[in-house]
Amino acid sequence: MQPDSYSALVVEEIAPSSYAREIRSKKITQLPPGDLLIRVHYSSLNYKDALSASGNRGVTKKYPHVPGIDAAGVIVESSSPGFRPGDRVIASGFDIGMNIPGGFGQYIRVPAEWALLCPQNLTLRESMIYGTAGFTAAQSVERLVNFPIVPGKGKILVTGATGGVGSLAIALLTHLHYRVCAVSGKPEAAEFLTRLGAAEIISREQAADPSGKLLLKEKWAGVVDTVGGEILATAIKSTAYGGAVTCCGNVASPDLPLSVYPFILRSVSLLGIDSAKCPVHIRHEIWQKLAGEWCIANLDSLATECRLEELPAFIERMLQGRHTGRVIVNLL
Ligand SMILES: NC(=O)c1ccc[n+]([C@@H]2O[C@H](COP(=O)([O-])OP(=O)(O)OC[C@H]3O[C@@H](n4cnc5c(N)ncnc54)[C@H](OP(=O)(O)O)[C@@H]3O)[C@@H](O)[C@H]2O)c1
Repeated sequence: MQPDSYSALVVEEIAPSSYAREIRSKKITQLPPGDLLIRVHYSSLNYKDALSASGNRGVTKKYPHVPGIDAAGVIVESSSPGFRPGDRVIASGFDIGMNIPGGFGQYIRVPAEWALLCPQNLTLRESMIYGTAGFTAAQSVERLVNFPIVPGKGKILVTGATGGVGSLAIALLTHLHYRVCAVSGKPEAAEFLTRLGAAEIISREQAADPSGKLLLKEKWAGVVDTVGGEILATAIKSTAYGGAVTCCGNVASPDLPLSVYPFILRSVSLLGIDSAKCPVHIRHEIWQKLAGEWCIANLDSLATECRLEELPAFIERMLQGRHTGRVIVNLL
């Protein structure tokens, strides 16, 4: 029988700019309107969740709030012809966990357009090991593949390498026979990155050129950037003639200190990546790839599983830039 309440991680502003995170019981009837009521089995932790859980008003406008931009679970109620009770679904992006209650609660209610059927050969748990981070990594890799940057063309630089997007980008690129150079601020994670497939590892200092030069030695056929700022600018200045650079994140900085020369003298292309509003047909194609021809063999080794009660500690680690790989949340 359907319970009338559920557990969720609630973030509340307890004093100006001071936020508390605690597990609370919430009423299902108080969820916002939407076509699908979903019993969430697994969620995952993304950088945006850490921002939402710490009062970032650019991500979440109103508190108290339940974060979690990712949710994988089973439909309990559906008013949409596309979904039936019992269907296994992935709901991610759009406003989930940003301004409507998200996957850090055992139930969510969302519009049908924000969900898709979980591919048959993927478990709900596996889908959350990928989560938005894996989906974004796949979008970035797909843009390079389609550009096309072929594996024989040269090395691909991946920044923020031990993070969710970075680690999955390395695994996907390696799976597709690209040679990867990883940028990481964690020397202790060298073994983890080598196991993912990184052929070379450089430090953040090596990846950020402070000289102010407008162009640097050509090193990369392509780049998957997750950090922005000086590291992204240096990567663009070091991309070889005709190369391509994807840009999805800003953990280091939202700035891009750069001239136009890499674009007008080396024909370098900068490709923007957004997962949140990605159209449903592209979402569907990418999830099918992640479950099929692009499926990473050692996916499980990337994930640390936690319960809702353990999540605040992982959020803190992520905010301090100390975490590695993917954290998935078991809400069963
Ligand atoms: N556009 C989109 O749709 C989309 C989707 C998903 C994520 N994102 C963005 O992509 C970025 C990465 O997300 P994520 O979930 O992978 O985050 P994450 O798991 O926290 O990983 C970020 C990684 O960046 C590196 N890093 C941290 N602080 C840094 C700094 N000050 N300078 C340089 N590198 C630093 C760290 O790796 P190392 O220690 O190995 O260097 C860290 O593990 C975030 O900005 C996120 O908002 C965007």
